[in-house]
Amino acid sequence: MALHIGSIAPDFTQESTEGTIHFHQWLGNSWGILFSHPKDFTPVCTTELGMTARLKPEFDKRNVKALGVSVDDVASHKRWTADIEETQHVKMNFPVLGDADKKVSKLYDMIHPEWNDTLTVRSVFVIDPNKKIRLIITYPASTGRNFQEILRAIDSLQLTDKYTVATPVDWKQGEDVIIAPSVTDPAVLKEKFPKGYKEVKPYLRVTPQPGK
Ligand code: BEZ
Repeated sequence: MALHIGSIAPDFTQESTEGTIHFHQWLGNSWGILFSHPKDFTPVCTTELGMTARLKPEFDKRNVKALGVSVDDVASHKRWTADIEETQHVKMNFPVLGDADKKVSKLYDMIHPEWNDTLTVRSVFVIDPNKKIRLIITYPASTGRNFQEILRAIDSLQLTDKYTVATPVDWKQGEDVIIAPSVTDPAVLKEKFPKGYKEVKPYLRVTPQPGK
């Protein structure tokens, strides 16, 4: 069955560089990003895993756990880790699943046979504490992902959950946000958005980012 935004993230048990992962239990009350890499000992993947390790404090701040997936086994990942640490100047600090049996890659539709029968594309799933998939991104193997964009999107999701707002094009932390069209009661608007808002159009109401 196809996975969609709003689907419950399928649970699984798989080996990783940090031991056996029972996915839902491992997530606990955290958000998660589950992201695939086509293959060990490849250049783009090496830079992406290094960046994820470097950004751990940013993921921690947002209560997000990172979990990599690749179709090589754990022993291979562990050999590759030494290269990542050497070339990206960072200590690996999150688990990578050894998905040699492709259990997780298939469960999350990360193998696109029109491109390659055995390797994964670069998939990203952002999962919330209710285990719901909140964001899906798919990149081809040759294009490294933008992890600042992943953090920015997580910021938007978390802000939406907390304050019933949406974020406009190219929004970044601290910039104005959009009040969800569902919020119309004047008393609620006053309580939720004490700094007021600008009604550009009845459906486009802009307010300073709440909680800042
Ligand atoms: C890479 O990570 O550099 C890569 C992996 C598979 C295919 C193409 C590039």
